[in-house]
Amino acid sequence: MGRERWGTKAGFILAAVGSAVGLGNIWRFSYVAGDSGGAAFLLIYILCIFLVGLPVLLAEFSIGRRGQQDVIGSFNTIAPQKPWVLGGILGVASSFLILSFYGVIAGWVIFFLYSYLTGAAGAVGAGEYGDFFGEFIGGSVGPVFWQVLFMTVVVGIVFFGIKKGIELSNKIFMPLLAVILIFLAGYSLTLDGAADGLAFLFQPDWGAFGDPSVYLAAIGQAFFTLSLGMGAMITYSSYLPKETRLPSAAGTVVVFDTLFAIIAGLVIFPAVFTFANLEPSDGPALIFITLPEVFNQMGGGGTMFGILFFFLVAIAALSSAISLLEVSVSYAMRKFNWNRKLATVVVGGIVTLVGIPSALSQGGPLTDFTIFGHAFLDAVDLLTDRYFLPLGGLVIALFVGWGWNKSEALRETGLTDSVLGSIWIWFLRIVAPLGIALILIINFL
Ligand code: PFF
Repeated sequence: MGRERWGTKAGFILAAVGSAVGLGNIWRFSYVAGDSGGAAFLLIYILCIFLVGLPVLLAEFSIGRRGQQDVIGSFNTIAPQKPWVLGGILGVASSFLILSFYGVIAGWVIFFLYSYLTGAAGAVGAGEYGDFFGEFIGGSVGPVFWQVLFMTVVVGIVFFGIKKGIELSNKIFMPLLAVILIFLAGYSLTLDGAADGLAFLFQPDWGAFGDPSVYLAAIGQAFFTLSLGMGAMITYSSYLPKETRLPSAAGTVVVFDTLFAIIAGLVIFPAVFTFANLEPSDGPALIFITLPEVFNQMGGGGTMFGILFFFLVAIAALSSAISLLEVSVSYAMRKFNWNRKLATVVVGGIVTLVGIPSALSQGGPLTDFTIFGHAFLDAVDLLTDRYFLPLGGLVIALFVGWGWNKSEALRETGLTDSVLGSIWIWFLRIVAPLGIALILIINFL
């Protein structure tokens, strides 16, 4: 049987956008931007996206399309018996570990969606959402139940394969996401705090440019949001036929992902600034405590806003989780010669089990079980985010920049004899590795 294929190029691009647009654009982007000073962060983040993210994304697309296999297989095919396969191994390891806790947070999201739908979340008193959220994540059944439910849907989609599962679902999800997001932004911009929210997001505090932690946060966010360093984009592009133009696909993914994060900022910050006592720098709890407080103060429209908002986040998370699972599924299919259905159920089941300690670590029974002083979920998050992703990205940049024959890499990407091609190669050779090495060094210090 031949390799599975995307039905159309647009289907592939939508799926890649679906992978990129996720919790990272809403939950993570808003709290990282909130913590790191808003506009200054946004500017540095956009620079990182174009200087490091875009070249590495194009590199991943080229590796996958050329390799025509899962991420480890693709490295082994292009550069047999070379240490570059480390990039593939890191990809499988990080996508697996990230999915284990991504499912937990997505579970919180669908719990909130459910609570808004039943009216339970709308009935919580002002100022009490911290307790509401704390009680939920501190439980021993709830967080696991919602995580398992979310993961079941993810497994259900990947089970049906590239065209009938992943491509089809993204064709429905992505337009839906765009409509809801634009509607919510339109509403948010009519709130009293819109001007303050916009100023926070677009008027830089110049002092923040001198703060190294803002650069770190920006480059980490760029990798996470573009799904880089985890093999997801390599795996997706391995289902492409030869004739697809990769640079335009990479450009489209980057532009949509960035627009999505900025518009999500337009939904969140005007709302946060409209109501007193709320801070944009509330950290990871921003969308689970601060925003519900905002919805609460909105009066009648709040529940509706809550339902639409959490539905939006749930779908965004789903399309990203699908791509995370596909990395390991496609590896297991080749490695163990399993069919897709078996691979999906086995791998999906194991990832879910590995995620359970994370689900119970945020106030629940496993809170005191720490690794180097971090709760389980935070430890897995930090390990992947700080070390595995940048390291994976570094290997990919160095491989395409230095390891792979230059003319072959350019031919594969369709950039032979073009100025863009030389710029791309030099970004992979020098700019991206230096940027990434800097984060790794600072992380290790
Ligand atoms: N890019 C996704 C987000 O922003 O939420 C997260 C993600 C998905 C990371 C898939 C990595 C990946 F392979």
